[in-house]
Amino acid sequence: MLANLASLYPRHLDTVRGHADQALALAPFEHLLIGAGSPPGKFLDDQDYPFIANPHFKHWLPLTDAPGSWIVHTPGTKPRLIFVQPRDYWHVVPQAPHGYWVEHFDIVIVRSAAEAVAQLPKGRSAVLAPAGAASDGVTANPPQAVLDCLHWYRSCKTPYELALMREANRIGARAHRAAEAAFRAGESEFGIHLAYLAAARQIDAELPYASIVGLNQHGAVLHYTHFDRLPPTAHRSLLIDAGASCAGYASDITRTYAGAGAGEFQALIDSMDAAQQGFVAKVRAGQSYPELHVHAHHVIAGVLREHGLIRMSAEGAVESGVTSTFFPHGLGHPIGLQVHDVAGFQQSERGGSIPRPAGHPYLRMTRVLEAGMVVTIEPGLYFIDMLLQDLRDGPFNSEIDWTKVDHFRQYGGIRIEDDVACTDGAPENLTRDAFAQHG
Ligand code: GLY
Ligand code: MN
Ligand code: MN
Repeated sequence: MLANLASLYPRHLDTVRGHADQALALAPFEHLLIGAGSPPGKFLDDQDYPFIANPHFKHWLPLTDAPGSWIVHTPGTKPRLIFVQPRDYWHVVPQAPHGYWVEHFDIVIVRSAAEAVAQLPKGRSAVLAPAGAASDGVTANPPQAVLDCLHWYRSCKTPYELALMREANRIGARAHRAAEAAFRAGESEFGIHLAYLAAARQIDAELPYASIVGLNQHGAVLHYTHFDRLPPTAHRSLLIDAGASCAGYASDITRTYAGAGAGEFQALIDSMDAAQQGFVAKVRAGQSYPELHVHAHHVIAGVLREHGLIRMSAEGAVESGVTSTFFPHGLGHPIGLQVHDVAGFQQSERGGSIPRPAGHPYLRMTRVLEAGMVVTIEPGLYFIDMLLQDLRDGPFNSEIDWTKVDHFRQYGGIRIEDDVACTDGAPENLTRDAFAQHG
């Protein structure tokens, strides 16, 4: 584990407790009860799906394997952890709590989820727990006002959280290096994925999201989660979007590589890489994220012109929606305990929603950036048959160099994605810093 977590954690916990006090005061409630949740069972089966802890639970402590456990926060008192460690010789049971954080909790170890529920205090409580916890005798009642308040403050990360997110990026960067080597060695999508997992030392269920490993045209499928078991006859390109976890925090990283001899595609990647770094440089306090997204459309229109893919003006390409054929998703999203973190649209700590700009239905972040926020910057440029056909059938057909576009279809597309922390000054690119350490 990272050396400085023990010194950063107490202030993190103070911050989390302070925000919880503020949220409880809204009703007011006496207690905040946070259930880790339980793994959902498979239908008509005796197996469970992988356990994913309630993100609110992971916000308080670095425990990701704690099904049935609860955190109890009562303002003015030390927080309690009611930890379930079943007597079970069939499975490996969760390890008894240990590490830099345990001294900050009163810990009670119980043998079952029902015993944990029996330990919860009576009184007026806000209960943040997945629905399954309700059947254990507690009604999950996440009051919207409490959620809005907690989600709002989760947007800005503490130094402790940033340390964990740097590490999630270092693990991801190390694994991306291994994936690139597997691509260069001619592996299949499946083989590249296995190289990624081995280098990350994480199994699929531990990753913050399902990895996307697309060779050649598969890069054009935005959420391609199939893995061809055999290599293709030629390795023209790889688009890999894969993250890693660290104590419940996510990284979300995409790289695109050109194969040997794909110089024209490499040139397009280079232009997109320069554009992406320009967007990263604008991750500053006070910057409107939707304005940055629209700015990205203008810059990408310039890339399309520079490479001779469109003939119309950059301005015209954005206004007519032509850039959305090539860049049909949002520039990025908040990231933290969840890969698509909460409160991307929220207006204030009291809730509310800031609408997306017209014509940009997939943008996941409409707020103004503040110091402490971490967002992804992930522009893309793709050759997607379905969208290209609409463009072909529409009024701007003659503005496109179809010979060129058709030629690029064999490469699928480009996405370059970094996780970037907004600070009081220059942005901190967690992902590029991590790649630099894994030279
Ligand atoms: N990997 C999911 C995303 O980039 O948002
Ligand atoms: Mn992303
Ligand atoms: Mn991604």
